Amino acid sequence: MRIITRIAELRGLVRDWRLARESIAFVPTMGNLHAGHASLVGAAHTHGRRVVASVFVNPLQFGPNEDFNAYPRTPDEDFALLSELGADVLFLPTVEEMYPKGSAGSTFVDVPDLSNILCGAFRPGHFQGVATVVVKLLNLVQPDVANFGEKDYQQLTVIRTSVEDLCLPVRVVGAPTVRAEDGLALSSRNRYLTAEERARAPQLYRALDRARRSLESGETGIAEIEREGMEALRAAGFRPDYFEVRMARRLERPQGRNVDVVVLAAARLSRARLIDNLQCRATGDLGN
Ligand code: PAF
Repeated sequence: MRIITRIAELRGLVRDWRLARESIAFVPTMGNLHAGHASLVGAAHTHGRRVVASVFVNPLQFGPNEDFNAYPRTPDEDFALLSELGADVLFLPTVEEMYPKGSAGSTFVDVPDLSNILCGAFRPGHFQGVATVVVKLLNLVQPDVANFGEKDYQQLTVIRTSVEDLCLPVRVVGAPTVRAEDGLALSSRNRYLTAEERARAPQLYRALDRARRSLESGETGIAEIEREGMEALRAAGFRPDYFEVRMARRLERPQGRNVDVVVLAAARLSRARLIDNLQCRATGDLGN
């Protein structure tokens, strides 16, 4: 596997692959790779002859009081895993390479309708940072397919919408969330959990699963389902930011009968802010 840190070198290689008519699949990450990322690289091999992974902890998507400095950085382990998984290239740019003019004042990509709800209401500027870096990376790698995890469901929706709105020639593919045996979604931020918090953390998945089962069995009281979800999280010792049911495609408030919805939640266990979601078909009439 080749490590590339400079944009010019990446562009040269991409040009050669394109001339040779080789398809490219891309897995953007912030590193500290786990089995969830490995599943994305596995999927990428089915989508492209060449597989590029990037590791870039993007300062633009962290708020001033967030964990940019503390975010786990494990370059040696990431390199070993990506080599083992058969990636062709690890793109590992510096912040200066990605934002040569500094991040303030540079061009942004924003999807306002989707970026200010749910996690966006608690992390102002986060999705603008995500959309901006992802569009830049897609322009650099020029993949046929880009793979993202469904665990970051709102992020995936923001990315799909940016790609569609900006007419980028790439297919965005979501991959199912990879979970520990007790249901906890794998995440780099799980390493902030103490042993005692780790034992409580799967309650997030269980609360979402209860809501999913209610919706699948025809329950229509969305406010009640959301209230119960918030209460279950508080009872398990979380500080929940939100627990909401939304339409699966565009994250609007749910409406209609037999519609695809997603139940999303974000909640804190001291240092760790965990997010998760479950998709399902709501069989009752959710009104209009
Ligand atoms: O999900 C992530 O790891 C990041 O938000 C992404 C998509 C790589 C953008 O920095």
